[in-house]
Amino acid sequence: MIKHNIILVGCGAIAFRWLDHITKRDDCRLVALVDKKPDNAKKYSERYNLTCPIYTDLDDALANEKGDLLIDLTFVTVHWQIVTKALKAGYDVFGEKPMAFTVDQVNEILKTVKETGKHYFVMQNRRFIDRVEKMRNLVKSGLLGDPTLLSGEIYVNADMGSVRNTFKYPQLQDNNIHSFDMARYLVDGKPTSVIYHSFRPKDSMYTGDSACDAVFEFDNGVTFLFRGYNGAQACWTSWDNQWRIDCEKGSIVWDGFGDVHYQYFEHSNGLHYGEWFKEGVFEKPEVVRDQHDGALEDLFDALETGRTPGTDCWDNVYSIAMVLASIKSIEENRKVEIEVNDTYPFLVLK
Ligand SMILES: NC(=O)c1ccc[n+]([C@@H]2O[C@H](COP(=O)([O-])OP(=O)(O)OC[C@H]3O[C@@H](n4cnc5c(N)ncnc54)[C@H](O)[C@@H]3O)[C@@H](O)[C@H]2O)c1
Repeated sequence: MIKHNIILVGCGAIAFRWLDHITKRDDCRLVALVDKKPDNAKKYSERYNLTCPIYTDLDDALANEKGDLLIDLTFVTVHWQIVTKALKAGYDVFGEKPMAFTVDQVNEILKTVKETGKHYFVMQNRRFIDRVEKMRNLVKSGLLGDPTLLSGEIYVNADMGSVRNTFKYPQLQDNNIHSFDMARYLVDGKPTSVIYHSFRPKDSMYTGDSACDAVFEFDNGVTFLFRGYNGAQACWTSWDNQWRIDCEKGSIVWDGFGDVHYQYFEHSNGLHYGEWFKEGVFEKPEVVRDQHDGALEDLFDALETGRTPGTDCWDNVYSIAMVLASIKSIEENRKVEIEVNDTYPFLVLK
């Protein structure tokens, strides 16, 4: 039975991950594809044998079609326009990360969510990696004591394409939110401050800064050290980062590719080695599930049951806050404090 009539806006590189999932569900029907470049939409229409109309302007699609769920896969710079328009037209929205490009845009989106009473869920697919969830559950179990220090690193080399390449901080303004959201998820923390140093290594393909070294503080006392470079010539990490979580009684390490390893001690007599250590492994499964599939299953379930998903906009504001506070820290060359409020303005950087 059809439960979701969907307008999908933005038919670029990532759209296949969404369409792979949606076209397999028998509770979803696409009522329109929208892209300002109609050939992009046509390509997907043919690939998935879709019969819905194609529009180049969202206003026309909203005026002519009757749907209830809008999927926003456009650029980060225009997400807020698409999302607020859809919410005001009575649609719930699923959207690609990052939520927005500026603090004002974040506040405008959250204000519209509040006023319309509609849902806005953000795609943070890396939460749905099996080993990421297992690391989080291990931390939450308390077996290793409270987390104290989290370290994440990403070294990749990719032409991100389109508008992203023109950004002043291309990696930070598009992709780093994955690392930041994972960091929050792993240790169940909310950011309170950041000091962010950003730079452009001389061999970088980007005109903007593509490398960084940063220190975030979380409300649960965890310090998050983050380092990244989109432009490394070799020895790349996974796009899922490499991680180390230090806790009061043990540590967890994951190289971002294979198994997770952890060690901990049960006695506090100062002999933190040898026979006192216990160890564990979370093995990489033989078949690794597509991250978007897991995430979309969760979002559709949340919409149908009324459950608030982990990537609801009221939680995701803390992840986009880490991006926007980092930019402020770079530009003002100082530590920036993050404040999230229940009333407008919802996000304030100090
Ligand atoms: N979750 C992930 O792992 C992941 C991976 C890649 C990209 N993304 C995110 O997905 C989004 C899209 O990325 P992409 O790689 O597909 O980008 P892309 O540039 O390939 O595609 C964006 C599409 O949106 C269209 N578009 C832009 N503005 C529009 C507007 N106002 N109205 C209609 N169409 C418009 C463009 O013509 C283009 O076809 C970005 O926010 C990106 O950060 C997420």
